[in-house]
Amino acid sequence: MQFALPPRRNLHAPYPNSSRLSFQRRRQLKAVAILGFTLLAVFFLLSQILYSSTGTSAVPAGTPSIVLVTVLDRALWSDNYIQKIIKNREDYAKRHGYTNFFANWSDYEPSLEGSPRSWGMVPAMRHAMASHPYSKYFFYLDTHALIMNPSQPLESHLLDKNRLESLIQKDVSVVPPDSIIKTFSHLQPEDIDLIITTDNEDMNPGSFVLKQGEFSRFLLDVWFDPLYRNYNFAKAETHALDHIVQWHPTVLSRLALVPQRIINAYSKESNGAGKDGSYKEGDFIIRFFGCDSDPKRNCEKELDPYYNLWAKKLKNE
Ligand SMILES: *[C@@H]1O[C@H](CO)[C@@H](O)[C@H](O)[C@H]1NC(C)=O
Repeated sequence: MQFALPPRRNLHAPYPNSSRLSFQRRRQLKAVAILGFTLLAVFFLLSQILYSSTGTSAVPAGTPSIVLVTVLDRALWSDNYIQKIIKNREDYAKRHGYTNFFANWSDYEPSLEGSPRSWGMVPAMRHAMASHPYSKYFFYLDTHALIMNPSQPLESHLLDKNRLESLIQKDVSVVPPDSIIKTFSHLQPEDIDLIITTDNEDMNPGSFVLKQGEFSRFLLDVWFDPLYRNYNFAKAETHALDHIVQWHPTVLSRLALVPQRIINAYSKESNGAGKDGSYKEGDFIIRFFGCDSDPKRNCEKELDPYYNLWAKKLKNE
């Protein structure tokens, strides 16, 4: 029945180069996105109304509250490098009773349908949530990053009500430096389902936290919509998220921007750190942002000195 499928790839030229075409596509995108989003929002609201009366489900004993999600590409990165990433995440999870979800990029390749490989993290988060239905928070961290200060539990560092309240950046542009859409000024920690940071240019989804629930599943579905994946945003899933948050107050009202260095400090080799977004000793995370896309850089080389520092600290504990 292969022939019955629509010729998906041929529907849109991969890189429209006439501005008229791109204007038309923009309008199309807008119309379809608004329609799709409205439908999903209606489903979401209905499901909230239908299910809110059934109360909370019992959480099985031993359920980890937090799941760390990392996408590994075993075809692209050396086993040695991948083992270092795994060790770093496992140590952190073990200390605080969290669990790891090491997703394999190749599992998502078919569903990407040719869209840029970086999109793999979206179905990986969906997969993690389905695999751990009783866990409350899902912390996605890009492969090319290390947890440098593992003694800090994610609760007291970020998630606890008072802590989150002190970190939420209110009334700031969601897309730097000065998008007219700004985070709401009345946000309360209990409203929040998505915690993320901005760098110098975008909301950067290389490190973010989602709270388990209908809203997060809905957001991941919208984000992964073929419409966005086929749109050829210059920065793929990053620009799609910028777009979704700016156009949809439903999402904006559940979003907390926190200072970059809380979960997403950039190494000195990385371009595009926001104001006070570069890694300093003692920070929770270091990211080697862009090390995999810049041919002049080398992730494995950049990681090594920090990995050794981390391993040494571990030995001296
Ligand atoms: C990814 O692959 C590894 C090694 O093949 C396997 O142990 C692991 O369970 C896979 N992860 C998932 C989420 O399927």
